[in-house]
Amino acid sequence: MVARGVLTSVSMAIMAVATAAAPLVSLEKREESNNGLTDRVTWDKHSLLIDGERLFFFSGEFHYYRLPSPSLWFDVMEKFKALEFNGVSFYFNWGYHSPKKGVYDFDGVRDVQKAFDAAAAADLHVITRAGPYINAEVDCGGFPGWLMNQHSMARKSSPENDANSKEWLEAIDKYIVPNQITKGGRVVLNQIDNEYADNVDPYYMEMIKQKFAEDGVDVPSIFNDPNTNGYFAHGTGSVDIYGWDSYPLGFDCSNPTVWPNNRSTTWRDYHEMMNPGEPMALYEFQGGAFDPWGGPGYDACRTMVNEQYAKVFYKNNYAQGATIQNLYMGYGGSSWGGLAKPTVYTSYDYGAPISEPGLMTPKGYEVKLQGTFLHTVKPFWTTEHFSPKVDKDDIILVDGLADVNTDTKFYIAQHWNTASEDKDEFHIDIETSDGKFTIPQKNKLVIDGREAKILTTDYDFHSQHLVYTTSEIFTHQTMGSHDVMVVYAYEDQEGEFALKVSKDDVKVDAKDDSVSHSVEDGILLINYKHTNGTTPIYISGGSDQDLLLLVAGYSSATRWWAPIVKDSKDRVLIQGPYLVRGASISDSTLAFTGDIDETTDIEVVVPENIESFTWNDKELKLKKSEHGTWTGTIEFKDPKIDIPDLTKAEWKYSEASPEINPDFDDSTWTTANHLQTNSVTIPETWPILFADDYGFHTGCIWLRGKFNGSSDITGFNLTAVSGDASAWVAWLNGEYLGGYDVGNQAFEDLNGTLKTDGENVISLLLWTTGHEDDWSADDDYKTARGFQKANLLGTRNQTIWSIDWKIQGNLGGEDLADPVRGPYNEGGLYGERMGWHLPGFDDGDWDKVSVPEDKNRTGVSWYRTNFDLDIPDGYDAPMSIKFDDDTKTRYRALLFINGWQFGRYANDLGPQTQYYLPSGILNTKGSNTLAVAVIPIDKGAQLGKVILEPYKVLESSIPAVELVDSPGIDKRQT
Ligand SMILES: *[C@@H]1O[C@H](CO)[C@@H](O)[C@H](O)[C@H]1NC(C)=O
Ligand SMILES: *[C@@H]1O[C@H](CO)[C@@H](O)[C@H](O)[C@H]1NC(C)=O
Ligand SMILES: *[C@@H]1O[C@H](CO)[C@@H](O)[C@H](O)[C@H]1NC(C)=O
Repeated sequence: MVARGVLTSVSMAIMAVATAAAPLVSLEKREESNNGLTDRVTWDKHSLLIDGERLFFFSGEFHYYRLPSPSLWFDVMEKFKALEFNGVSFYFNWGYHSPKKGVYDFDGVRDVQKAFDAAAAADLHVITRAGPYINAEVDCGGFPGWLMNQHSMARKSSPENDANSKEWLEAIDKYIVPNQITKGGRVVLNQIDNEYADNVDPYYMEMIKQKFAEDGVDVPSIFNDPNTNGYFAHGTGSVDIYGWDSYPLGFDCSNPTVWPNNRSTTWRDYHEMMNPGEPMALYEFQGGAFDPWGGPGYDACRTMVNEQYAKVFYKNNYAQGATIQNLYMGYGGSSWGGLAKPTVYTSYDYGAPISEPGLMTPKGYEVKLQGTFLHTVKPFWTTEHFSPKVDKDDIILVDGLADVNTDTKFYIAQHWNTASEDKDEFHIDIETSDGKFTIPQKNKLVIDGREAKILTTDYDFHSQHLVYTTSEIFTHQTMGSHDVMVVYAYEDQEGEFALKVSKDDVKVDAKDDSVSHSVEDGILLINYKHTNGTTPIYISGGSDQDLLLLVAGYSSATRWWAPIVKDSKDRVLIQGPYLVRGASISDSTLAFTGDIDETTDIEVVVPENIESFTWNDKELKLKKSEHGTWTGTIEFKDPKIDIPDLTKAEWKYSEASPEINPDFDDSTWTTANHLQTNSVTIPETWPILFADDYGFHTGCIWLRGKFNGSSDITGFNLTAVSGDASAWVAWLNGEYLGGYDVGNQAFEDLNGTLKTDGENVISLLLWTTGHEDDWSADDDYKTARGFQKANLLGTRNQTIWSIDWKIQGNLGGEDLADPVRGPYNEGGLYGERMGWHLPGFDDGDWDKVSVPEDKNRTGVSWYRTNFDLDIPDGYDAPMSIKFDDDTKTRYRALLFINGWQFGRYANDLGPQTQYYLPSGILNTKGSNTLAVAVIPIDKGAQLGKVILEPYKVLESSIPAVELVDSPGIDKRQT
């Protein structure tokens, strides 16, 4: 255990002086804990503090390995910042870096330093989560394929597992350590393992924790308990700041409008009991949902885990006391190649705030509204809970949060029934330093269906004192001679805003007729309706500075941005654009950067000294309005991008399954001759036919079995083992026998195909979908991919070794033929082994073919074409390939763009038909090689239409995208 020190941010001398005047409680408040290794990151019961500065830690999860184009990491991190995340949580994927024991690769798309750099460039704090186990819906939950052959159990302390785990930590710590805040980087928290709550071995946790410390990780350690189980909050293996994860809506997106009523109201008590001296931390809180093969698709998940969900559930977290909240995912990306575990398909969009192609979503805008509030209104960071009086307390739940340092109080209102779609009016009794009120006093306060509100009372900001408002605060800022506050609510809801004023003749100027006001006892009460737009209300003469109150409807509020001006702490305000990435001021010019998807009217609120504006370096002509805001229009110029029509392109075709032929030469294949396995799958016959035992850990697997015929043999019996959505196809002596889901299949009545004399050859193609994870720490990840049983049928031949087998997977096995694209990119298809997916492969002697295909194909087929793109600078047009077919014949396809496998398509399962091609992998200013491998499960598959299509075209300040190294066939290492 690392000793926890108590450090006082103020020196003891000052404290001693302060004690005389200050009540004891404020002494207590100054007590921050640290981990005994650093005081750069400290905490108390309320929140985390970084370099002594308190903050609400609101981060999003990002997986660099799900976006293998490092330039786009800078793009996504910029978008995180724009959506008001102030942190990012990175999982590091062991398997992604280690194809073979002792071999680690951090080059090219695996250069994690660039991920740290991208976070730093966007001014984000970083949580590192390097496992060794991460889950994350990745192959083996992040364990490398080679760990399948480890004899000892994973996530348990043993000499073998300790050594292997440390091998990884040693490799990744070389990147984590120098990127810590203590070494000038941005890493502030480091997680130990992940979601470890079944079959736990505390000594394993302790060993991992010690290894991080030995390697120089000195920021506080954290643990992500998969629920409120209390694991590793105390005792052996315990961490500095314990926290948990929660996915209240679950993962079935098929009835997206049906919500369970399961918001937690017990976390506050749990936290009080479990780790009261630490901030309440939600290291993973549902930011979306993954979707399985055959699922309803990510649009459904986006509908289920939508912006209303974000309102109700995230605000509930704050009401419970959370001040560390990490959304899983902030950006999901793609499980390209064989990255995914079997339940999920290529897209890992996750219905996240930022979509797979990097687009804004309604939930992203909601995150921005909340994030801006959380970072602006500081009393929210140090509160204690209380229960206010509410008139409709049987329907409406209102949690009170009282700041311990000021009189500011917050009221978080929502329906008791999370799923309620009713609109209910209610009143709250509030107590402020300006008196007691039942609010609203004059108009209506409502909670709409699936809405939650944070109301702020008794709050000093700049020169103003807010008594209360029934609208929600987006942000506020002083703009030179006047202050500005933006408040919002759904359109047609009413709002009340009570401001302390020094004189009764305060002037309230509003163009909107719905705005009324009165002054009583030094309190200005303004009543208004939130319309679809933003209504300015200008208040002068009531305080040292005037106040511009901007009353926004929800739609309008989602397009308000408050970027922090570069190299300052101040925000400026801009309404309208699709995305605002940043703002900087030089002399009297304010430069905005961002993205628009159409010609956009904007309104800008800035200090008086600003006189001119640019948008993406182009001059912006704005007109000054009456109250000092500026208005104008950003023109969208259609770049008229020429998208090649792939149905008219020249395609080349090759048959690609010579393995089917009985006389195919498999002499270079691996002989399957193992008698023992470390798999958790129990073999029923021998030799062992598990691909991983022979070093093949990803993609398609071929097996060829030979036996001499005899009159006793009537057939054979095979049991395939693999994950969800896997499939296998069998041939005998070159004849197609059938295609199957995993499981058992007996082959009898083989008519003339089975020879009673001479050699018979069985050819099996197994389409795998990755390995299981290790959720329960029971080595489930070691479930085999291959055949558990393979024996002959007949009177005298049911022996445990009746067939001789050869096995083939990706070229080179653990000695990758293509280390640049890495261990998950290619499997064991003939075309993959020959490099047909790679740029530079000469398909000159292949047949010309039309796609959509007009012939039925029975073996594996490969299709190749090239296309050019020219997306002009200053635009972002994230591209995709779509498959469109209506054939009932089941097939699987692999999509390769410039050699990178970016799609696994199952025409019978779906749901994914559209595949994202990230810029950088895709050459947006040049030529691209597209290859599609088609594996028929049923006889006679036909590849349908293949369509190249942008998701959206944005005029954009996206950072320049560097082309990723995509080695051609000449670079193959065999
Ligand atoms: C508000 O106006 C915009 C622009 O006209 C429109 O797209 C949007 O649907 C409106 N929203 C509501 C809630 O009426
Ligand atoms: C084939 O193997 C399965 C699984 O072991 C068994 O249940 C089935 O009876 C076998 N079929 C034949 C025809 O022997
Ligand atoms: C063998 O013949 C039967 C009956 O004609 C047929 O149903 C079956 O599909 C044939 N099997 C093979 C492997 O061709």
